[in-house]
Amino acid sequence: MTLIAPSILAVENASLFDAAKWAADGGADWIHLDVMDGHFVPNLTYGPPVIKLCRKVTDIPFDAHLMVTDPDDIIPELLDIGCEYISVHQEACVHLHRTISQIKDGGAKAGVALNPATPVELLMDILPMLDMVVIMAVNPGFAYQKHIPETAEKVARFSDMARKIEWPGLVQIDGGINVDTAGAMIVAGADALVAGGAVFGRRKEGQKGYKDSYPEQVRMNIYDLKVACQVAIEEGIDPYK
Ligand code: DX5
Ligand code: ZN
Repeated sequence: MTLIAPSILAVENASLFDAAKWAADGGADWIHLDVMDGHFVPNLTYGPPVIKLCRKVTDIPFDAHLMVTDPDDIIPELLDIGCEYISVHQEACVHLHRTISQIKDGGAKAGVALNPATPVELLMDILPMLDMVVIMAVNPGFAYQKHIPETAEKVARFSDMARKIEWPGLVQIDGGINVDTAGAMIVAGADALVAGGAVFGRRKEGQKGYKDSYPEQVRMNIYDLKVACQVAIEEGIDPYK
């Protein structure tokens, strides 16, 4: 079963908490929380105080994706809040082993995210310590970007590498996931998909009554993604097309 992790980055800041609730009520498996510092990536979002407030609206697992230059500084707060998954970028961590140890010692599951230009082979030595690998299918920083199609080949390469050492972790794909791109990721070996625009993006702001219909739209979008994944599994589509 594919895990769907809606990213609340895709809504305007005033709706962050509503979005977390709508996603949780609409069948999301996790809530994906994109922390950006305006330095590692050219965008600034939210940090632990906002994530702590999100906890008030849902208790489904929190999946924090840290796009920050110094993740070690905020990991303790995220552990206190009780984030189940905390992922850091390989490119940001000079002492990745130490950072991963900090996450795991604090009781959370640890992930490492890779930018599109970073080869999966760089993870070889740290992989046994990891619970999840996040393969970025866009350059991190913003929701609503176009999925990079070469990601399928990269996911398949990573899956081969992981299989050889019988790694039990999860492969998550983040960026430009929608009903057209999800299937190829699943067939290539993904277990979890982040989705921002595909879950939250179809609202027509200003349209009469849009607020009432938004939660239902979110639910339908999550359902559509799950169906697309299931179809891909059953039909075994070619991930390179
Ligand atoms: C991008 C973030 C993503 C983003 C995904 O840097 O890491 O999680 O919100 O949004 P979509 O699914 O719209 O690409
Ligand atoms: Zn993300």
